Amino acid sequence: MTDVTAPAPTLQTTPTTRLSLPPLQLGQLTVDVPVVLAPMAGVTNRAFRRLCRDYGGGLYVTEMVTARALVERRPESLRIIEHDDDEEIRSIQIYGVDAVNVGKAVRMVAEEDRADHIDLNFGCPVPKVTKNGGGSALPWKRDLFEAIVTTAVREASRAQIPVTVKMRKGIDEDHLTFLDAAKTARDAGVAAIALHGRTAAQHYSGQADWDAIAELREAIPDVPVLGNGDIFSAEDAARMVEQTGVDGVVVGRGCQGRPWLFGDLQNAFEGSPERFRPGVAEVADIIHRHAQLLVETFGDEQRGMREIRKHVAWYFHGYPVGGQLRAQMAQVATLEQFRELLDQLDLSLPYPGAAVEGPRGRAGSPKKPHLPDGWLDSRILGDAERLGLADAELDISGG
Ligand SMILES: Cc1cc2nc3c(=O)[nH]c(=O)nc-3n(C[C@H](O)[C@H](O)[C@H](O)COP(=O)(O)O)c2cc1C
Repeated sequence: MTDVTAPAPTLQTTPTTRLSLPPLQLGQLTVDVPVVLAPMAGVTNRAFRRLCRDYGGGLYVTEMVTARALVERRPESLRIIEHDDDEEIRSIQIYGVDAVNVGKAVRMVAEEDRADHIDLNFGCPVPKVTKNGGGSALPWKRDLFEAIVTTAVREASRAQIPVTVKMRKGIDEDHLTFLDAAKTARDAGVAAIALHGRTAAQHYSGQADWDAIAELREAIPDVPVLGNGDIFSAEDAARMVEQTGVDGVVVGRGCQGRPWLFGDLQNAFEGSPERFRPGVAEVADIIHRHAQLLVETFGDEQRGMREIRKHVAWYFHGYPVGGQLRAQMAQVATLEQFRELLDQLDLSLPYPGAAVEGPRGRAGSPKKPHLPDGWLDSRILGDAERLGLADAELDISGG
């Protein structure tokens, strides 16, 4: 193993609101800082989770894995659910479209002691998934949703593994599902419910609806509710907690290229005004370390370097870095070459301030959700629809 130690980024103090939330209780598990790294396909692998964990506490979820691929023991799926030895709560996310496969996958995880926490993904808005009734289209079918969650909770309970669900508000504003789905999930015995305050139709556009998160918090007083959507700083997290009363926050795009955000979040939860404000030299060290960890995780320099390329734009978002150098870094092939390119940056440049803050990552525009014909006509799954669902689990990644 390479000796990859975390560089210590510059700290600055900012006026702050103290986030007075107790630790997050998920069944028998206690999450010290009520912050969750949102599952992100292609991002939240072992390397990235390691990097984030160096800065702060919380719950760090894997990329999603499909139930069927897990049951079939596909090597890539088994890789996705691997954890470092020091990941205290081994958290994984499963995506599935039928109770049988989800049940088998959860049973396998429980019997083989492969995780301490399982999250179920009902938020994926990708057209090739929703057009067959999967992802964020699925909670519309009350019976199917109930069957999947009930089966998962039952199988997980054999090993006292808490199950949580992550969902969107619904398909579109006229077809909201979050309130009834959350009640179903609560009755099925989930340990928490995470709500991304967007509909499938919104994809990642516009603003997350925190009022819906507050509405859910109020409607389900007996289960922890986690708020998700548009937290790009510790101050955003504080505002969400204040406005919605959630028991914890789930952070996705805000930490892309900024693993130190988990340090800011922990500081905020502990009432400390310190915030990480890395200059160019520190960012260069952190992204290089990320690349080293990816190479280690995949055991393959080529693969690791392919993976780091997409992170370049995120890490240097808002930093004054020339287009040509950015382009070269986005095609980097070896760790050594990466270091050489990073050394060409003006390493004396400080943290640029507002330019690196605020929204980052996927945004785009709203899209009419693709759904199976007649999907919205009934909230009960029809036989033909059941057949179509099988395709909603093929070759998908990301939510
Ligand atoms: C690149 C990417 C991959 C994602 N993959 C998943 C996934 O595998 N499972 C999931 O439930 N959500 C996934 N999401 C959604 C996020 O978990 C999160 O709900 C969403 O980004 C909103 O939170 P944010 O505003 O903090 O980014 C993904 C999002 C992005 C940007």
